[in-house]
Amino acid sequence: MAKKGYSRIALAADHAGYQVKERIKETLQQEGFEVIDFGTHTAESVDYPDYAKLVAQSVSQAESDRGVLVCGTGLGMAITANKFRGIRAATCNDAYTARMAAEHTDANVLCVGARVVDADHAVAIVREWLKGKFGGGRHQRRIDKIAEIERAQPALPAR
Ligand code: RB5
Repeated sequence: MAKKGYSRIALAADHAGYQVKERIKETLQQEGFEVIDFGTHTAESVDYPDYAKLVAQSVSQAESDRGVLVCGTGLGMAITANKFRGIRAATCNDAYTARMAAEHTDANVLCVGARVVDADHAVAIVREWLKGKFGGGRHQRRIDKIAEIERAQPALPAR
């Protein structure tokens, strides 16, 4: 797996993604990445926002360079992670989308669905994302617009 300018990867899963998370962790470590594993560590039912939050905070605060989240579909993890400042989380259950997530949208968190793809496929998706090189140029202009939308969000009135 090609290593880029980053080497520390935050990783987490819920119960649905736990086993696939273990496979991804093993692969990343074998390939020289430092992995911060935020859990979960068993197949006991947990709530995905609790885990997405830990990875998103780690990436948002630059404790980690990138994040990987695994749940049943990759959806709940991405929805949660995208609530955090500076996070561009993408659900990718195929390799092409994962490559585009890196090259076009510079996704800093990858979310995978363990009920959609098997462990081998999930590992291939992570590899493809890590291989992708952000294209800059027009893609940078577009993600700058995303950041501007995030900055411009007014505080919600108290309910
Ligand atoms: C858990 O049953 C499931 O809802 C969760 O893993 C995920 O798929 C949510 O998006």
